[in-house]
Amino acid sequence: MTRFETIANNLAEQIRAGQIPVGARLPSLRQIISQYGVSQTTVFRAYYLLEQWGLVRAEERAGYFVTPGAAVHAEVPKQKQDDAPKKVDISDLVFSVLESTQHPDIVPLGSAFPSPTLFPSSRLLKSLVAGTRSLSPWSTVEDLPGSDRLRQQIRLRYVGIGLAVASKEIVVTNGALEALNLCLMAVTRPGDAVAVESPGFYAALQAIERLDLRAVEIPVNPVSGLDLGALRRALEQHPIRACWFMPNFQNPTGTSLSIEKKRALVEMLRQKQVPLIEDDVYQELHFSRDRPLPAKAFDTEGLVMHCSSFSKTLAPGYRVGWATAGRFADKVRRLKLMTTLCASIPAQAGIADYLENGGYDRHLRSLRSSLQTQLGQMEAALHRWLPDAVKWTRPHGGYMLWLQLPQSVNAMELHTLASERGVSIAPGPMFSATHAFQNCVRLNFGHPWDARFENAVRALAEILDSPGVRA
Ligand SMILES: Cc1ncc(COP(=O)(O)O)c(C=O)c1O
Repeated sequence: MTRFETIANNLAEQIRAGQIPVGARLPSLRQIISQYGVSQTTVFRAYYLLEQWGLVRAEERAGYFVTPGAAVHAEVPKQKQDDAPKKVDISDLVFSVLESTQHPDIVPLGSAFPSPTLFPSSRLLKSLVAGTRSLSPWSTVEDLPGSDRLRQQIRLRYVGIGLAVASKEIVVTNGALEALNLCLMAVTRPGDAVAVESPGFYAALQAIERLDLRAVEIPVNPVSGLDLGALRRALEQHPIRACWFMPNFQNPTGTSLSIEKKRALVEMLRQKQVPLIEDDVYQELHFSRDRPLPAKAFDTEGLVMHCSSFSKTLAPGYRVGWATAGRFADKVRRLKLMTTLCASIPAQAGIADYLENGGYDRHLRSLRSSLQTQLGQMEAALHRWLPDAVKWTRPHGGYMLWLQLPQSVNAMELHTLASERGVSIAPGPMFSATHAFQNCVRLNFGHPWDARFENAVRALAEILDSPGVRA
C-alpha cells in the first residue's frame, strides 16, 4: 500500500468508528505531515482519496470536513424472531426476479456481481495461456481434488491472515456456491434443521429447499450482525444440524461480526458440536486496512467449513472456488468426485499462475478503492434523490447496501415497476424463507458510477413517490 493510501485508510477507519465525527474537520495538514513524516503532496492525495470515497468534502480555505452520513449506520428496526424450522419454497420467486434482471440493457442495481470491467481480464488471459501451457497431460487425473499449485496459493492467502491450513483440507470446487452446497450435503440428511441468517443469501434457502431440509431463521441486525442470543435459543430448542452464515460483509445487509462475536459464535457451536458452513466470498473486499478474520480463525476442532472463491474479486466466469472443510474435508472431496468430479483444470491453472505472477494484491487494492468510491457515489445519489424516511446500512466492505423503505412500500411492486423502467433491484422477500422484508431492498454498488446509475436511483425515487408501490 502506498503512503497516501495508508493515511487515507487510517483516517477512514477513524471516521467510520465515529472517532472523527460527522461535521468535524480532518486533522490539519501540518499534523499529518509530522505524524507520518510525509510530504504535503502525499497528504493531499490521501485527502483526495477520502473525498472520492465520499467520506469528506473540501471547503475552500477552511479544510476537509467529514460528510453527513459518513459514520452513520441507519439502524433498521429488529425483525420479529420466528425460528420454528420451516420447509422452504423460494426458488420460483428468486428465479423470476433474477430472470427479469439479466438483460444487458437493464441497470443492474439488483445484480449479485460487481462490474466485470473492474477485473484484470487481459492479464488473467495471459495467465490462462501460461498456466495451461505448463500443464502435464496427466494433470487431468492427478489434480482431481484440486491443483496442487492452486491449493498452495490458496493456503498462502490463509497464511497472510495468520491461519495455518493444510493443502489437503482444501477442496477446489466450481465456485463458492458448489463448495457451500457440498458442505451442506456433507453434514445433513433430508428433514434436518439448518440455521440460516434472516435476511440471508437466497442461495442458502434454495439449497435447503433442494435438499428437503428445514430452515431455522436467525435474525441479522443490519448494524451488529447475527443475533447470537437468538442463535443460542434456537440451538437449545431445535436439533440444528448445521449453520450457514456469513460473518464478513453479509449478503444482503453488508454487516460483519466483530472479532469477539466470531469467537463467541465458534465457541457456542463447538459446545453443541454443530458444524458451521462459513460463506466468505467477500473476504478480500474490505475497506479497512486489514483483511477481516473469518470465524474459521477460531476453530480448534475442524468444525468450521470455510468457503470462498475468485468470483467476486477476479474471475466470475472461471467458476473456481474452494472449501477448507476441516474434519469434513474427506467427505466433501468424495461428494465433489461423485457429483462434478473436479473444477476446470485450465481455469485452475490460469488462476494459480495469476496468483503467483499477476499482482493479485495490487489488483485487489485498486478494486477495493473503486468499490469504496462507488459506495460514496451511490450514497450521495441516495441522499440526493430518496426521501429522508429511507434508511440504509453502510457496509465496510463488499458491494451491497440494504435499504429500508417506509413500511407502506411493497418492494415486490417496486421491483416490477423498476424493471419496466429498465432498473433491477433485489427485493427483500428474496432473502427470507417466509418472504419477509417486504419493505426492504438490496442494491449493488459494484459498478463504476455514471449517468445511467444516477438516473436509475432517480427513477426509484419517482416510483416511490407514486401510489403503485404501496403495500
Ligand atoms: C453471498 C454469496 N455467496 C456465494 C456466492 C456464490 O459464489 P460463486 O460465484 O463463487 O459460486 C455468491 C454469488 O452471488 C454470493 O453472493
